[in-house]
Amino acid sequence: MGGKKPEDIWDRNLALELVRVTEAAALAASRWIGRGKKNEADGAAVEAMRKAFDTVAIDGTVVIGEGEMDEAPMLYIGEKVGMGGPAMDIAVDPLEGTSITAKGAPNSIATVALAEHGNFLHAPDIYMDKIAVGGGLPEGVVSLDASVAENLRNLARAKKCDVSDLMVCMLERERHAEIIAKCREAGARIVLIGDGDVAGVIAVSQPDTGIDIYLGSGGAPEGVLSAAALRCIGGQMQGRLLFEDEGQIERARSMGITDPHRIYNTADMAKGDVMFAATGVTTGPMLRGVHRTGRNAVTHSIVMRSKSGTVRYVEAHHNFATKTWSPD
Ligand code: FBP
Repeated sequence: MGGKKPEDIWDRNLALELVRVTEAAALAASRWIGRGKKNEADGAAVEAMRKAFDTVAIDGTVVIGEGEMDEAPMLYIGEKVGMGGPAMDIAVDPLEGTSITAKGAPNSIATVALAEHGNFLHAPDIYMDKIAVGGGLPEGVVSLDASVAENLRNLARAKKCDVSDLMVCMLERERHAEIIAKCREAGARIVLIGDGDVAGVIAVSQPDTGIDIYLGSGGAPEGVLSAAALRCIGGQMQGRLLFEDEGQIERARSMGITDPHRIYNTADMAKGDVMFAATGVTTGPMLRGVHRTGRNAVTHSIVMRSKSGTVRYVEAHHNFATKTWSPD
């Protein structure tokens, strides 16, 4: 440990503890894969994740969660979790991709991020316009203020390739018709995903995925989780909240958002030392899904910390016959 004191390394162990939390949620959700019941899948993940937090040594407050206290029975915004320890803010999406889980389609994950108190953007549950690219590129190479064609040109120049070499990732949605047309006009290729833009954004920082840039709008809470992941693995992201009415602007104001037009950079959404963990529920480009055989299951997770920049992939073999509690 090279002379490190316990106070310098407690967060290393905490990061590994987080994997237990996402594993529990993924295992519970996996019971519902392809059964056409997205709410049940989500509920199972939420309950298992909530329970798993009881054994994590933090004094945690949920800041990105399942909704307001009166909307969600567990993991609601403001809920305290953990068995006591350092004060941390928590962003959770126990099942990111409820519909894809219900359909047995690829790319759903259970995910969690942690930061010191006050370091996550308190994003309301509205849409956010997002743009993200991987690590090792000049700061500001892409921007939400630039046109699609300009961003693609600048990215291609920075990557020393042609726009036609670039692969864009985006949610397949009607509202993206114009961006899709502009990408195609510019000559870029596109991967359209059904759901799950946290994994979509992280894909820009994983060379094996072949994704160069993420574009389009999705959930703002998911935006904060994605930013937390990029703070650890490297990459740049920008997000701008998309308000549909005055009511949403008022609500955001009550959560501390004073400028509704602001563009948030990665570190504006997730500041300071951040940890991120995710476990695959159904297989996607980032993680393999839960593989069950009888009373056993195998999970694949990713866990990372911004402080060290270490990215760990954890394959866990679970034997439910020997467990004192089961997420099922
Ligand atoms: P859920 O798990 O809540 O269903 O979210 C899935 C998701 O695809 C997110 O990844 C994304 O941010 C959001 O939905 C996009 O919302 P919409 O489906 O309304 O376009």
